[in-house]
Amino acid sequence: MDQIRIRGGNPLNGKIHISGAKNAALPLMTASLLTDETLTLRNLPHLADITTLANLLVQHGVDLHLNGHDSAEACSGRVMEMKAGTITSTRAPYDLVRKMRASVLVLGPLLAREGHAEVSLPGGCAIGTRPVDLHLQGLQALGAEIELKEGYVHARAPGGLVGGHVLFPKVSVGATENLMMAACLAKGKTTLANAAREPEVVDLAECLIGMGAQIEGAGQDVITIEGVDRLHGHTHTVVADRIEAGTYAMAAAATGGTLELMGARADHLRAMIDQLAPCGLRIEEIEGGLRASRANGIIEGVDIMTEPFPGYPTDLQAQTMALMTTAQGASMITETIFENRFMHVPELCRMGANITVHGSSALVRGQPELMGAEVMATDLRASFSLILAGLVAKGETVLNRVYHLDRGYERVEEKLAACGAEIIRVQQNGE
Ligand code: UD1
Repeated sequence: MDQIRIRGGNPLNGKIHISGAKNAALPLMTASLLTDETLTLRNLPHLADITTLANLLVQHGVDLHLNGHDSAEACSGRVMEMKAGTITSTRAPYDLVRKMRASVLVLGPLLAREGHAEVSLPGGCAIGTRPVDLHLQGLQALGAEIELKEGYVHARAPGGLVGGHVLFPKVSVGATENLMMAACLAKGKTTLANAAREPEVVDLAECLIGMGAQIEGAGQDVITIEGVDRLHGHTHTVVADRIEAGTYAMAAAATGGTLELMGARADHLRAMIDQLAPCGLRIEEIEGGLRASRANGIIEGVDIMTEPFPGYPTDLQAQTMALMTTAQGASMITETIFENRFMHVPELCRMGANITVHGSSALVRGQPELMGAEVMATDLRASFSLILAGLVAKGETVLNRVYHLDRGYERVEEKLAACGAEIIRVQQNGE
């Protein structure tokens, strides 16, 4: 298992190209199951989660080609061509699905196209129970018959899905995406109320519309979809990763440097920009991206609460906490999306942070400095919070279980080292 070693204290300065968004790319890849023509995705990030999903799609019969880097665009992402000419299997097996929760996104497309699907109940990050009840209830509202047997969801719609009204009792990004895809091939009109408004949902809708779907309202809380008989091939460029951009913006502020984040979009980071501005994170729009720095030399404590988009993203909560460990004053960080998303707290405390958790809130008392330590990544975003802490800490930080990081951050050590960080990946054999 690899380790990442960081010697903290260097301000980060330079330019970072923001990759295509993992959370947009994954649903976009599953959209390839909706058509027998080729779906081409550009600006795809090179990440373990993408490979996991690619393996699952191949297993369903998708003919998949990865064409290296796309030199025609300013973005450095890869190009993937996917053609699901014939679906050879509608079963998504446990050994592939358990690696990544987003695998459940094959359910809607397979059911809509083939009339049945058998998908293992998912695994993924250990940040709470993360059920799929909203996905299943939504599909039932479109006429699907659902049974849970031996750890699998067995979904059937022998006569095809039929448009319906789905009111999500809770905002869910994945359920909105699954239902939006399924509804594209359902008979008649579907409305999704209390839908997720995340930019990744909008990106998926734009791609589906390019494939011939009739969708209105993506990005608002009611989405309407008029089913069509078939979708066709299309080429789509994956939106830039707002979470990666927000993470590096905080790295600039934490280390007292200035980073230009190429491809980053202010409209996708509005909550972070507005809520961290009073504490000293300066974000300026520049041509082709954003510039992040400290406004006046210090970072001050701030209270934040995670919420569905356009609120403060839960996927930036751990990194924000790391930023606040050395802020002046105290911060209250409240997590409302996932119930077990403070696993980075004990690790940050081992580096000298002062954090007390009370239920879903963490009180962070800013300390003058952190000290490097050997720490363990517990989930994807938590991993980067420890890297952030390591970048400001005195001495060396050694991050174990780097595979969590590799699920969602592309070439971290390369991107950070190019901006002045002392960071290396050490390959360890024999574990
Ligand atoms: C997506 C993102 C993830 C992000 C999360 C919230 C992807 C691949 N992942 O995950 O990075 O942290 O949105 O912004 O895009 N829930 C239910 N029942 C369900 C589905 C969800 O109770 O059927 C709950 C979840 O446990 C959670 C909340 O709803 O408490 C939001 O989850 P959801 O928006 O569905 O997250 P994901 O789509 O899994």
